[in-house]
Amino acid sequence: MAENKNDNLDDDVSRRRFFTLMGLGVGWGGLLTALGGVGVGAARYMLPSVLYEPPTVFKIGTPDEYGIGVDTKLKKERQIWVVRNERGLYVMIAICRHLGCTPNFFQDQALFRCPCHGSIYDTRGNVLGGPAPRTLWRAGISLDPVDGQIVVDFNMRQDPDPKGTPEGLMVEEMGREVEPYFLKV
Ligand code: FES
Repeated sequence: MAENKNDNLDDDVSRRRFFTLMGLGVGWGGLLTALGGVGVGAARYMLPSVLYEPPTVFKIGTPDEYGIGVDTKLKKERQIWVVRNERGLYVMIAICRHLGCTPNFFQDQALFRCPCHGSIYDTRGNVLGGPAPRTLWRAGISLDPVDGQIVVDFNMRQDPDPKGTPEGLMVEEMGREVEPYFLKV
């Protein structure tokens, strides 16, 4: 009988110890989790939130890679078209001057058409129809003296005042074919 009492007592003690230890475990676990959360929050606060944007000055290969006409291969990746005429080469920015959509080039018509509200541009960027109030931008370009590649400055933009004509909004082409927006290559 006395033995049973002792057994019960032992059981009680070990149960109490078990729950105490459990409680301690949960407590420490909770504390560590909370501290971890605070640590992560503090680290996030101290590290600047960096936005990785593509560079605005980039190379697009050498002039001999671009034939006469409109080259659309960099439209998706770089938002530009490379255009070569009999005199040289320029780069137009693939952003509609109405509200910023991306126009498509139609080779058979030699026109850019904006899918959003129907603006139409010729291969020089003049506006032939639709709501666009300005001609397409041309980007600043130069030749790298070391490797001969074309360097595009996406944020340097030629934006001359267009004249209203029966055909649309036009800019005198010769005035546009000047450095640093045109390469005689
Ligand atoms: S955004 Fe191109 S026509 Fe409106």
